[in-house]
Amino acid sequence: MTDQLTPIDRAKYASAHCAADFVQDGMRVGLGTGSTAAWMVRRLGARVKQEGLRIIAVPTSTRTAQLARDVGINVVSLDEARWLDLTIDGADEFDAELTLIKGGGGALLQEKIVATASDQMIVITDAAKEVKTLGSFPLPIEVVPFGWRATKALVEELLASVDVMGRQSSLRMNGTQPFVTDEGNYILDLALGRIGNPRQLSLVLNQVPGVVENGLFVDIADIVIIGHADGTCELRDLSTGVAEMSERRVDLGEARNIFSDL
Ligand code: A5P
Repeated sequence: MTDQLTPIDRAKYASAHCAADFVQDGMRVGLGTGSTAAWMVRRLGARVKQEGLRIIAVPTSTRTAQLARDVGINVVSLDEARWLDLTIDGADEFDAELTLIKGGGGALLQEKIVATASDQMIVITDAAKEVKTLGSFPLPIEVVPFGWRATKALVEELLASVDVMGRQSSLRMNGTQPFVTDEGNYILDLALGRIGNPRQLSLVLNQVPGVVENGLFVDIADIVIIGHADGTCELRDLSTGVAEMSERRVDLGEARNIFSDL
């Protein structure tokens, strides 16, 4: 099956499997959204079945909740779990400080709430998402539908006074209709090109009435696990400064192409 996968998909699979090894019996775990996170959820489901791993999981989207239930993971709400030991999630871009752009899959609000309510966040990714300066990937922001055009105009005006290269924004669509998030909101994708000061941008965006949350994750992620197409993983721990390559290779033989459903 792995011959159906692109090198990037094999890398995502490897990072997801390496990260799933961090989950221990009894943990409360946040489950991210996206294709990389889906591999991780499937791997955790396999561990539940094969090893009897007991975990309580909080998904970050209805898609992930459905998948987690399908693979036999015990799913609860964040209010039931209250606090989490660990969240594992993908990203659209990351830099050396583990500042992230997230929300390509439209789940940034729940992803940010869940990751922030966790002792630790592990980012799972392939190497192509590492950047020196964030911003090539359009920054998603979640906005309430009421008055979204006014919110869009205010955001574009604000972008003129911060350190970014572009200021065009577009409403994310789902066919001919606006894309609607799990919380019933819309997404604006900001084509910024370069984000000079992610911390400042995140703060000012969230001050615009109508903006619910933005896809910049600043000081939230602790560890990144970068998968490679040969099944190896590279781990970087921001708090300890440890950077290491795994000695074992993830067995890519079990991979099935599930990207079409996510
Ligand atoms: C979902 O809203 C996003 O934040 C995803 O985590 C991000 O888009 C990564 O997705 P992939 O793992 O599919 O690349």
